[in-house]
Amino acid sequence: MAELLPYGRQNISEADIEAVGEVLRSDFLTCGPKVAEFEQAFAEAVGARHAVAMNSATAALHVAMLVAGVGPGDRVITSPNTFLASANCAAFVGATPDFADIDTVSYNLDPAALEERWQPDTRAVVAVDYAGQPCDMPAIARIARERGAIVVEDACHGVGGGFVHEGRTWKLGGHRWADMTVFSFHPVKTMTTGEGGMLVTDNDEYAQRARLFRSHGMEREASRFESFGRVGDSLAEAGPWAYEMQELGFNYRLTDIQCALGLSQLHRLPALMARRREIVARYNEAFAGLPFLIRPQLSAANSQPLVSWHLYTVQMDFVQLGRSRTRIMTDLRHHGIGTQVLYIPVHLQPWYRRQYGYGPGKCPVAEAYYQRALSLPLYSAMTDADVEQVIQAVRGLADQ
Ligand SMILES: Cc1ncc(COP(=O)(O)O)c(C=O)c1O
Repeated sequence: MAELLPYGRQNISEADIEAVGEVLRSDFLTCGPKVAEFEQAFAEAVGARHAVAMNSATAALHVAMLVAGVGPGDRVITSPNTFLASANCAAFVGATPDFADIDTVSYNLDPAALEERWQPDTRAVVAVDYAGQPCDMPAIARIARERGAIVVEDACHGVGGGFVHEGRTWKLGGHRWADMTVFSFHPVKTMTTGEGGMLVTDNDEYAQRARLFRSHGMEREASRFESFGRVGDSLAEAGPWAYEMQELGFNYRLTDIQCALGLSQLHRLPALMARRREIVARYNEAFAGLPFLIRPQLSAANSQPLVSWHLYTVQMDFVQLGRSRTRIMTDLRHHGIGTQVLYIPVHLQPWYRRQYGYGPGKCPVAEAYYQRALSLPLYSAMTDADVEQVIQAVRGLADQ
C-alpha cells in the first residue's frame, strides 16, 4: 500500500527547529520571555489588545467560561458541528451546554436556530468557525448582546482568517462581535505549537483574569494584592516573595519552547494559509460537476481570499456511489488517501445523551450533514503531486 496522506498534519521548517533549539539552550524553558513575545506578536497579528497563551484551546475555552463568570444555572449554546471541547467548556464550570442547529451552506451555527433555541438562562454563546469559515458573527452577537449574554468565538480552525462586514474587512480575534476568541495550535491546525491555544480579547479585565486562571489563580503583581498590606492582616508583609491566590486556577501555561515554535510559525502563517488556499482552489476546480459530491460552500459574507482553510470537507452521496462511507474510506486508503469524519454531532455523544437527555432529532441539519461528511487531506506541506493523487482517487470513486 502507498504511503498514507493524512487528513491533516504539521509543516515544520528548519527555521522552526532552530527557534526551538535556541530556547532549549537558554535559561528559561517555561515562564520566560518567549511567552510574552509570542503573545504580543499574536495580538498584533490578529488586531487584539491582549493575547493569553495556554497549553491547549480546550484550556483557553475553559478559562473563557471562568472569566466570564459562567457557572451552575447558566446555559451555553454552541454548534453541534464541532469538536467536543467547544461544548465541554460549559460543563467544566457546571453550566449546561446546549446546541442550536447549523445552516446548510457554511455548516456553522445558524443565527435563526440560535434565536429559536434561546432560553432565559442562556449566558453565553460559543460560535465555532467550522473548517475555518467564519460564522455570521454580527448576527450572532446581536442576538446574544440584546439578551445580555457574552460571545466566545471558537476560531480554532480559522487562525489568520477574516470576513467582510459592511464594506470593511475584519480579522478573527480582532473584530467587535466576540468578547473573547480562542485559537488552537494542535499539529493539524494551520500553525502549531505541538499542543497549545490562545485566548484573545480587547477586555483588560478578562485578560488579567485569564492570566490568573492560567497559573493557579496566583497574583504576583503587588499593586493588585487583596490581603497583603491590609491593616491588621496577619499576612500583611508583602515582600518580594509574595504571591496571592485569588482564584481557584490551573496550570494551563504554554512553555517557552512551544512559544518559540509559535512565533516562528506565526511569521510563516501567511505562506501556510496561502498554500492551503491554493490546494482548496485546485480541489474546487477538479471536483466541479462531480455528481456525487458537494464542495465546501461559502456563505454570502465570506470570500475565498479571506478564509483561512483548516478542513476540506465535502458532502458525499454514498447511496449514489453504492458503497458505505466506511467502504469509501477504505477504498481511498488503498490509494494512499487518509480521510476523516468531522464532526459527529456533539449532542449525540453518549455522555451528552446521559447527562442532558439529548438525542437524534435535536439538530436535524447537523445530523443530516454528518451522514454525508468526509474531510479530504488538506495541509500546507502537501506537494502538488499529493494534491493530484487525492483528486485522481476521488474522481475515480464513481468508476469502481
Ligand atoms: C473547533 C475546535 N474547538 C476546540 C478544539 C480544542 O483544541 P485543542 O486540541 O487545542 O485543545 C479543537 C481541536 O481540535 C477544535 O477543532
